[in-house]
Amino acid sequence: MTTHTQTTEPDVTDIDPAQLDLTDPQTFLDVDPHAMWRQFREQSPVHWQSVSGTRMPGFWAISKYADVVDIYRDNKRFTSERGNVLATLLQGEDSASRKMLAVTDGARHREIRNLMLKSFSPRVLQPVVEGVHRRTRDLVEQALEHGQLDFVTDVADHIPINTIGDLMDIPAADRERLVEWNTQTLSRHSSEDSALDEVMARNEILLYFSELAAERRKNPGEDVISTLATATVGGAPLAEDEIVFNCYSLILGGDESSRMSSIGGLIAFSENPEQWRKLKTGEVGADSATEEVMRWTTPAMHFGRRALEDVPLRDRVIKAGDVVTLWNSSANFDEDVFTDPYVFDIARNPNKHVAFGHGPHFCLGAFLGRVHVNAMVEALRERVAEIRLDGPPQRLYSNFVHGYSGLPVTLTAEAAG
Ligand code: HEM
Repeated sequence: MTTHTQTTEPDVTDIDPAQLDLTDPQTFLDVDPHAMWRQFREQSPVHWQSVSGTRMPGFWAISKYADVVDIYRDNKRFTSERGNVLATLLQGEDSASRKMLAVTDGARHREIRNLMLKSFSPRVLQPVVEGVHRRTRDLVEQALEHGQLDFVTDVADHIPINTIGDLMDIPAADRERLVEWNTQTLSRHSSEDSALDEVMARNEILLYFSELAAERRKNPGEDVISTLATATVGGAPLAEDEIVFNCYSLILGGDESSRMSSIGGLIAFSENPEQWRKLKTGEVGADSATEEVMRWTTPAMHFGRRALEDVPLRDRVIKAGDVVTLWNSSANFDEDVFTDPYVFDIARNPNKHVAFGHGPHFCLGAFLGRVHVNAMVEALRERVAEIRLDGPPQRLYSNFVHGYSGLPVTLTAEAAG
């Protein structure tokens, strides 16, 4: 099992990009990701991966930082409207196309994004920040009382879902179910969970929000669902499926990635005692550490686009209609951009990672995501003296989310006073 936690140069012997299957989640468990992506960047930065059994003959895998950023920025020649993750892109379409922000382009994207930004701007979210810090401190305190625990299920699982749950005014009793559906939709705990479970979980979430949205339309409150359910754009209300798909994207985006970065951050500190010391002594601040945790963990491994015209790139030509995948987990370790990329360095500056994407679809929840990771970094710094991993982290089975379903740890409290 591999994690994103090594600090030495990756060993690239025996890795041949042509032999790897990026559609298979098992690849990401079997192969050291740093070694794998280094080989891609060096040998085949614009790599064609053929696939069978899907509507598309294959797809491009882009691994250099400069190319990833250029394509993220270019929504004229590359569209998100035919899907933005490998799973939907290979089906040839996304059923939420032009209904959900992330898979809408052009004027409609700008209008809906501006509407949603009203609920997610730093100014509007300022009152939520203290609540996130309080909840995180409380959970870390409780964890310290137990000493030994599963950091995923006992701590991390309870934080972002409750923030986004409060913002959307989701009844507390429903939140645990939503976390479970979220994980099943984006990734699987193991190869034994079926693809059908993924589809069913997605449908459960959509159905859940369709009922909640109908209720909020009748009795609106101050929450984000009510904002979407009662807003008008260009004089017309949003269609019901637009409301439902955007709620779906908020609950997925709002929960899973923030959880995974916090968990990955804890692992990184446990394996890099010198960085832990720098954090604890205040030699490096929590904001800088948060950015490095984001780069280091890169929870959204890839996003993707469909080319609208022929685009020459390095020595290849991406043809109109081709699927293009942008590997954040490679770009964030590109030697041309990051000095000593395989070193977890919480003082890293500059640190222009693409964990939140780039360009017109740059993560709407980046501020909130950072708040969550920052709150965890602060809570660990203030209350925890020592982090010890009691076993290997259990990795998710996914080619999209880099994360964990279990992490046995022992946390030791800071001596009183
Ligand atoms: C978009 C990552 C937290 C909601 C994105 C994109 C990335 C990303 C890479 C770009 C997708 C693309 O270009 O196709 C992350 C990470 C997070 C995080 C790593 C946490 C650590 C959040 C949160 C929310 C959220 C907390 C919701 C409150 C969204 C939405 C979009 C998006 C709605 C689509 C934006 C658009 O298309 O204009 N996210 N995200 N994300 N994210 Fe996040």
